[in-house]
Amino acid sequence: MPKKIAAGNWKMNGTRASLPDAMAIAATPAGDCAVVLCPPATLLSQMGTEGLALGGQYCHPNASGTHTGDISAPMLADAGATYCITGHSERRADHGESDADVCAQTEAAWSAGLVAILCIGETLAQREAGETLAVLTAQLNGSLPNGATAENTVIAYEPVWAIGTGKVASPDQVAEVHDALRAQVGPEMSLLYGGSVKAGNAAELFALENVNGGLVGGASLKAADFAPIITALA
Ligand code: G3P
Repeated sequence: MPKKIAAGNWKMNGTRASLPDAMAIAATPAGDCAVVLCPPATLLSQMGTEGLALGGQYCHPNASGTHTGDISAPMLADAGATYCITGHSERRADHGESDADVCAQTEAAWSAGLVAILCIGETLAQREAGETLAVLTAQLNGSLPNGATAENTVIAYEPVWAIGTGKVASPDQVAEVHDALRAQVGPEMSLLYGGSVKAGNAAELFALENVNGGLVGGASLKAADFAPIITALA
């Protein structure tokens, strides 16, 4: 069975004042579900606590070197991370990261012993043009390195048009994509949905056969919002 994962991506949000929320999230009963928080790198080493796995939001393909402002996978691991998001659409858009870049980052994450949470997703224009499955297959083929296993990789389907917009994909739309992904990655790899997941829609999404959890942005920042989402999965 794929592992159930409730993952929070704090993006560029959070300071030390947010630590109590992380502690409250860690204390939420989660059953057999893994709870992962991906805070800004500045908070990683302060967030380690039982009941919570930590992740980075990006890693450079190299382990070290002359790359001002970047962060490497071994540094994330050293700060307490066991996961790393790769290929988030905001990185692809804001930093021009290509599938090949994401592939290299994912390999770097593996080399440091991190589980990659590899993100793929179509834009609204691509969905309206009927290209969703073709786009996702191309992203997966281009950004998932050889050697991916259920132990080193989690796939997150995040339709770009649903991120931070309040427009969640419908259960039918999510099921169509996740069923197609399941056929491509095999029976064991965890498949997460991301894009405006909230307490009010989580249970319906998590009930889908091939949805093994969520990658949650805005609603993961506060324990009061994230706890019910964890509960819906647990
Ligand atoms: O990685 C999570 C994300 O992109 C979804 O963000 O705020 O729509 O839950 P949000």
